[in-house]
Amino acid sequence: MLPFTPIVRALPPTVPFVPPEALERQQGQPLALRVGANESNFGISPRARQAMVEAVDQVHWYNDPEGYELRSALAVRHGVAREEVALGAGIDELLGLLVRLFAEPGDAVVTSLGAYPTFNYHVEGHGAVLHKVPYRADREDLPALLAKARQVRPKLLYVANPDNPMGTYQRADELRDFIAELPPGCVLLLDEAYIDFAPADAHLPLDMERAEVVRLRTFSKAHGMAGARIGYALAHCSLVAALDKVRNHFGVNRIAQAGALASLGDDEFVREVVRQVDQGRREYAMLAAELGLKTVPSATNFVALDVGSGERARCLMQVLLQHGVFVRMPGVAPLDRCIRLTVGPAAERQAFAKVLRDVLPQLNEDE
Ligand SMILES: Cc1ncc(COP(=O)(O)O)c(C=O)c1O
Repeated sequence: MLPFTPIVRALPPTVPFVPPEALERQQGQPLALRVGANESNFGISPRARQAMVEAVDQVHWYNDPEGYELRSALAVRHGVAREEVALGAGIDELLGLLVRLFAEPGDAVVTSLGAYPTFNYHVEGHGAVLHKVPYRADREDLPALLAKARQVRPKLLYVANPDNPMGTYQRADELRDFIAELPPGCVLLLDEAYIDFAPADAHLPLDMERAEVVRLRTFSKAHGMAGARIGYALAHCSLVAALDKVRNHFGVNRIAQAGALASLGDDEFVREVVRQVDQGRREYAMLAAELGLKTVPSATNFVALDVGSGERARCLMQVLLQHGVFVRMPGVAPLDRCIRLTVGPAAERQAFAKVLRDVLPQLNEDE
């Protein structure tokens, strides 16, 4: 027996997600539609592509560990100092580092029941104790999160706005009131992976004076760069400096940095993706209505398609997979009455609609 730490010995042998590649290996064939991981099937900006291709020619050099150019551009974009921007290999990596900065074994951490599992994975990996607050009406329940925070005095509180897996959002004024009430000693991780797709009233203005609030953003969603693994935190300079003590300095690769910088300069591309996603969300709502189902109103690049019960959703997910369609679903009730479907380009939406129209009668018959 290897001398693993007690924390590692106690961890379950799980990964946060079964990847679509593993499903393809299990099925022995490629997926026809990959609409389960909230990736952007619109691809990347042509400018990002060009920059990434050019960066390949320099890939024999280490990347700039300070990420100077990209952090400078992000600072200008958000009206903050470069010292208030930290890069990471996606929000996922930053979440792990943030947990490491603040949570010791046994410390309390608060999140929502059914919320983004990668955060939980990091918390458990550091031996901290998760307290999970149920959603209310398909939204993260800010008053209940606050009550829990007052009760358990967590080091960290996690909120995604908009959230995954339901795609709902909190208004900026609700968040502002929530932040004002946070108990002392609690750092709020505000995960804004999907903020580009959200309506104007979801956008909480930045307030860098509030050192206890960390904003997390990514190039994985609207910018379409999930496989490049690049995201960032907007946070107080003392927190960014602390991240420098623990981060993997060469972890955000040269090609990703170049692509993100170019994508940041292509607002038109991102606006067009957001426009098409909005169109697609409306189409999926109509498709659901046509089939006697509902979608949860979404502020993200995916929709939660409500099929009535967890059992039905699991069944539909399996049937879709048999037809080569990869979707995911929330892990806990009552959210698990939905399947979660990424909104992609028009041709993909039509292809999904066709499969759903074909398989739904079969699902109804099986009941
Ligand atoms: C709420 C939320 N946060 C973070 C991520 C991951 O972001 P990244 O690709 O930047 O690690 C996801 C991806 O699905 C997400 O849903």
